[in-house]
Amino acid sequence: MDEVLKTVKESMEEVFGTAAGADVFFAPGRVNLIGEHIDYNGGHVFPCALTIGTYAAVRKNGTDTMRLYSANFPQNGIGSFSLSELEERQKRWTDYPKGVMWALARHGFAIPADGGLDVVYYGNIPNGSGLSSSASIEVLTAKFLSDTFGFDLDGVFIARLCKESENLFNGVNCGIMDQFAIAMGSQDKAIFLDTATLDYTYVPFVLPEAKIVIACSNKKRGLADSEYNKRRGECEAALAVLNAARPVKALCDLTPAQFEEISGALTEPALLKRARHAVTENDRTLRAVEALNAGDLAAFGELMKASHDSLRYDFEVTGPELDALYEAACAVDGVIGTRMTGAGFGGCTVSIVRDDSVEAFVKSVGEAYRKTIGYDASFYVVSVGDGPAKIASFA
Ligand code: GLA
Repeated sequence: MDEVLKTVKESMEEVFGTAAGADVFFAPGRVNLIGEHIDYNGGHVFPCALTIGTYAAVRKNGTDTMRLYSANFPQNGIGSFSLSELEERQKRWTDYPKGVMWALARHGFAIPADGGLDVVYYGNIPNGSGLSSSASIEVLTAKFLSDTFGFDLDGVFIARLCKESENLFNGVNCGIMDQFAIAMGSQDKAIFLDTATLDYTYVPFVLPEAKIVIACSNKKRGLADSEYNKRRGECEAALAVLNAARPVKALCDLTPAQFEEISGALTEPALLKRARHAVTENDRTLRAVEALNAGDLAAFGELMKASHDSLRYDFEVTGPELDALYEAACAVDGVIGTRMTGAGFGGCTVSIVRDDSVEAFVKSVGEAYRKTIGYDASFYVVSVGDGPAKIASFA
């Protein structure tokens, strides 16, 4: 049996007494290739799902109680709550699954009163890496609830539902990119998503002579949520100023040329920079996808680097750790593109590295990072995988 299946089965037997009849589900993590901090500005993003992610073994327990356990954090024990009290946050990781149940109930998808489940979660996404482990848990939960109770939810609905639960239940004002990338993932394809309309296309992302390498800064993302919400606020403030100069619904509705015409209205330097990032990042994403469709991976890579610079100087969400990873990566031969990915303030970079340079990349970026920052980065070569699915059942 696959190592992961063995882990969740043993864990389920140990914690809940039996794994007989349990179904096992998987949902991926995600990495964003380009289009950062614009999913809440009506922009285009270009993420993909990964083959690493989160697993859940799920078994009906015949009661009104959900009993959730994380094999990654055994010290936390079982988190349980009754199906009749889904409103209250418990201020622990179980709020991610609980929020999804709460959001489902809001949309009229009621779990039966005796529909309690025993669930073991287990993830192989590196911890706090910015590869969306929380969105992975949410989408996984929506998927197994949908299958177990016959809700028959489609991927786009799951993405919207999980975003809603993150926004309204968990109080993180995120956009829809992470939940969408995970719920709609497709092997060897990146998702070109217009976050204003949710129109999307799959773009083949097969790199015959290169790998996607994630470098994790291992920096704790302490202030991430508050800084994230602050950037959102700044974008809204910039939009209000621009809108007074010329009617505009979202920052990313502007082309760089249109923005130049009215940017003089933004007299506050921080707002000017935030808006400029949003407008230019949307433009870079459009051009990056064009380049990829034309088979020009080198141009795609250059746009990734320009994205990092914009996130560093205009949006100011990189910080010394991500900049150290970025600069070290740029100095390695065979690096086609590199940039921070996700919310920033820690987390990781994503790089496209020629096959024969991967070893040199890990060695030289690793050494440079340790020298500059004082502790180690971690490296993962990842592959582009499918969205959520039921993958096994235990006899
Ligand atoms: C986080 C959020 C996403 C997106 C990115 C930045 O991952 O969850 O919605 O805003 O940051 O691009």
